[in-house]
Order: sequence, then C-alpha cells, then structure tokens
Amino acid sequence: MTGSANEILMAIIRKEAGQIDAAMQADIDGLTARVDQLLVDVLRYSLFNGGKRIRPLLTVLAARLCGRDDPEIYQLARAFEYLHAATLMHDDVIDNADTRRGRPSVHVRFGTVAAILAGDYLHARSMAIVGALAGSEALNVLSDATGRMVDGEFLQVRNASCFNLSEEDYQRAILEKTGLLIAAACEVGALWAGGTEEQRNAVREYGLCLGSAFQVIDDLLDYQGKTSATGKRVGNDLVEGKMTYPLIVTVKRAEKSDRERLCQIIGEPALRRIALDEVTGLILKYDGFHMARKKAEDMAIAALEPLAIFSDLTRGREKKAMQGLVQYVLSREK
Ligand code: IPE
Ligand code: IPE
Ligand code: MG
Ligand code: MG
Repeated sequence: MTGSANEILMAIIRKEAGQIDAAMQADIDGLTARVDQLLVDVLRYSLFNGGKRIRPLLTVLAARLCGRDDPEIYQLARAFEYLHAATLMHDDVIDNADTRRGRPSVHVRFGTVAAILAGDYLHARSMAIVGALAGSEALNVLSDATGRMVDGEFLQVRNASCFNLSEEDYQRAILEKTGLLIAAACEVGALWAGGTEEQRNAVREYGLCLGSAFQVIDDLLDYQGKTSATGKRVGNDLVEGKMTYPLIVTVKRAEKSDRERLCQIIGEPALRRIALDEVTGLILKYDGFHMARKKAEDMAIAALEPLAIFSDLTRGREKKAMQGLVQYVLSREK
C-alpha cells in the first residue's frame, strides 16, 4: 500500500471507530440506571480501552459496499464489538492471560465471575441488536458463528500440546475461532443493506480469509510482537501449549534432536514457561516465522479475490478501504 493509501485508510478507521464508540457509549450510558453498577463498570473497562474496532468497521464497510449507508449502521456494528469483547473476556480466562490492551484482563481486575457474567451480558446484547436491526437470517449467521467459535475453542483445548498437530487442524481451529466472527461481521452488514446473494457470499468469503490471516498474524505476534504494542504478554501461546503455525512447521521440518527437544518442551508445562528464547531460536532456525508470514499472505491474497464483483466506480471508496484492511492486517504490530 502506498503511503497516501495507508493514510486514507487510517483516517477512515479513526473516523468510523469514533462513530462506533459513540454508539456504544450511548448504549452503555442508557444502562446505568437499569443494571448493577459493577456490570456497568466491567462493560466500560472492557469496551473503551484501545481496541482496534476491526469487526464493527467491517460491518460498516460491507453494508456500504452493498449499497446502504445510514446512521443506523453504527447501532448494528456495535453488536460485533460487543460479541468480540465478550469472547475476549472469556478467552482470557481460558488462556490464563493476565494482560489485555495493556491493562490487567477483566478477570484479573474484576474477578472471574464478573468476567463470565459480563461476557454473557454482551453476548446477549449483541444477539438482541442483530435480531432487531438485521432480522432473523442475520441472527442465524451470528448464532452459527458463535456456536462454531465455541467449538473452535474446544478444538484448541484438544489441540494443546499436541506435538504432531496437522496444518489442517490448525487451519480449522483458526477459521472457527476467529474467521467466522469476522465473516459474520461482513455478512450481517450485507444482509442489513439488502445486498444480493452474490454480494453477501463475496463479503463473507472475504471475511473468512481475512479473519484467518488475522489469526496467523496474531499467532506470530505472540512470539515476535512487543507487549508495548500488542498490549498482551508475549509468549503466552507457548506457555499454554498452543500449537500455532510457526511451531507446527518447525516441528515438521526439524531434525531429530531438535524435534525431540521441542517435544520435550511442549509436553512439559514447567519447561514451556522458561523456554521462549530457546523455542524462538528453533523456529528461526527452521524459518517458521517466515513460513507463517507467507501463510498469512496467501490467505490475505485470497481475501481480495471475492471483492472483484464490486464496482471500482460506484463503490470505490469502500472497496479500497476493504482492500487496504487486508494490507493492514498483514503489517499490523498491534
Ligand atoms: C484479538 O483481536 C483476538 C483475536 C482474534 C486474535 P483484536 O486484535 O482485533 O483485538 P482488539 O479488539 O484490537 O484488542
Ligand atoms: C482468539 O485467539 C480467540 C478468540 C476467539 C477470542 P487468541 O487467544 O490468540 O487471542 P488473543 O491472543 O488472546 O487476543
Ligand atoms: Mg487468548
Ligand atoms: Mg493470540
């Protein structure tokens, strides 16, 4: 992406994120008198703390790409940030992750009970919003994505420490836990806009590929990112025994002694806690980080193809923004 294209995209993200935040703020302000004060505190803490707003942004862009644009879109789009925030609260409990967006995770700050309940609240609220504004078909899309996301998290638990995990199993897990929600954010935008079947399928496919690429990069950042940028503790995936792409390819390529050492580390929780540098060295030795980046790039290129059906003339701005987001996902540091 050229410098100016990137600046235009950043300006769009900033502007739309501001509108999405305002819609969420209004919603939460309206709750203050009706629900427990602790719930309101947890919601504010988990929602307004520097999230990138990628999912609601995609709802807005996909809706415009399919031809509808009115301010109600922000009310709909916020449902996807709610569901995302709900999954993060629960995910941090599951992953024993104590830091999120540069601050203590919700369960660390408010306790596990509050994290589970507030996540359930946001989940319910997101369903209510999508049902009310985009209809029952959209609600089916969201419910399906949520159900499969849970299944993806189960699969990930099953895959943990599984030394010989296949690429296919990894791809299925990331598609389910991340790709489907991002695809649903796009598809529900298209449904709300009254897009054609072809348009709906195209933005869904875009979201599936973009979401998978997004997760591969997230998994890379778990090894190579900077906590000051990601706001998350580096190395947590290894501590949790998660078999992510860089590790999967390294296990596959490593010579016998390195493989045996990796197997020993992955199988032993106490070793995993102290072996980040050693494992990083082995991944570098077998080029696992480059291979993972290549994988993300292939997925990202696949995300661009479905956008070809949209006109550059009448939908140029939204189309460029969605193409730009693909680049952004690959180059992101947070
Ligand atoms: C984090 O998502 C969870 C993943 C699916 C990898 P984001 O990286 O979009 O998190 P925020 O909302 O910007 O913090
Ligand atoms: C995303 O995967 C999980 C969700 C579906 C919420 P990660 O576990 O890698 O996300 P982070 O790294 O905690 O943000
Ligand atoms: Mg996690
Ligand atoms: Mg991660």
